[in-house]
Amino acid sequence: MATRSAVRSSLVAVSVLLMTILNLSVQNNVQPVTPVAEIGSSSFTFNCTVNRTDLTANDTVWKHYSEELPQKWYKIVDATLIQLVIPNITESSRGIYECRSRLDNRHLIGGEILEVGYPPDQPTFERCLSDNLGPFTCWWNRGRDPILKTTYNLTYTFNVPSPEVHVCPDLSTEDDLVICRWGNTNAGNEHMFTMSAQNALNSSTSSLRIDPGLYGRMRFSCIYGWQ
Ligand SMILES: *[C@@H]1O[C@H](CO)[C@@H](O)[C@H](O)[C@H]1NC(C)=O
Ligand SMILES: *[C@@H]1O[C@H](CO)[C@@H](O)[C@H](O)[C@H]1NC(C)=O
Ligand SMILES: *[C@@H]1O[C@H](CO)[C@@H](O)[C@H](O)[C@H]1NC(C)=O
Ligand SMILES: *[C@@H]1O[C@H](CO)[C@@H](O)[C@H](O)[C@H]1NC(C)=O
Ligand SMILES: *[C@@H]1O[C@H](CO)[C@@H](O)[C@H](O)[C@H]1NC(C)=O
Ligand SMILES: *[C@@H]1O[C@H](CO)[C@@H](O)[C@H](O)[C@H]1NC(C)=O
Repeated sequence: MATRSAVRSSLVAVSVLLMTILNLSVQNNVQPVTPVAEIGSSSFTFNCTVNRTDLTANDTVWKHYSEELPQKWYKIVDATLIQLVIPNITESSRGIYECRSRLDNRHLIGGEILEVGYPPDQPTFERCLSDNLGPFTCWWNRGRDPILKTTYNLTYTFNVPSPEVHVCPDLSTEDDLVICRWGNTNAGNEHMFTMSAQNALNSSTSSLRIDPGLYGRMRFSCIYGWQ
């Protein structure tokens, strides 16, 4: 029963959040849109454009979720523009920011959802494994958790005069690892790998050469027919 009411209250929370998001997408008086701030940066600034005849920038307040933010973070640029300067960005700086009227019951003027995180680290190569020169797998460590959605891409060429660029056929991430899997080892063919990582804050790439032959693991059971 406790579980059911927990489920219901989380459903209510989700629908309230969705309604809020939909509401925000219609009222686009807050800039920038889809904002992202780097954790550790000294500040992040939102603009709120107040374009109502009955209201000036001085009649507005900023909220982070339900918390009304201190006036010392406000910067009134002119009668139609009020800024919010959020100091010292941390993980808890993320979330819904809203610009609301001080006069008519905190009527919503605009809002955005701030994401926070880190630019991607340069992925570092960990190892490869080639089972009986059959399936071939390589692992990279992505470094610090960037928190933000980050896409990884692994491409490689072979050491031939006009190298064709291949894309990893099966790239996945597990915890802090980025893993590429091939069905077959391309033995004796040196792979020149380029691993790239990209998110809203920045991108990074790293390159290296790998000879799959050096990562072979023979299973004697196959050679001798053991179980
Ligand atoms: C916020 O307003 C300032 C002052 O007009 C402007 O320079 C800046 O580009 C604006 N920022 C965004 C994200 O619109
Ligand atoms: C406020 O902005 C909306 C949408 O951009 C526009 O249609 C409306 O005329 C503006 N109102 C004022 C008072 O400037
Ligand atoms: C905003 O209002 C305060 C008092 O509520 C006043 O002291 C201040 O001068 C006003 N600022 C502007 C830019 O109108
Ligand atoms: C932000 O960080 C600086 C330096 O660490 C500190 O001096 C300042 O008081 C902090 N500001 C706020 C609002 O926490
Ligand atoms: C990875 O990079 C290759 C070569 O630049 C490109 O063709 C491919 O679309 C990229 N894949 C992803 C998921 O970005
Ligand atoms: C992105 O990363 C590159 C290389 O590390 C760096 O030179 C550049 O300043 C970064 N850009 C931003 C916006 O952080």
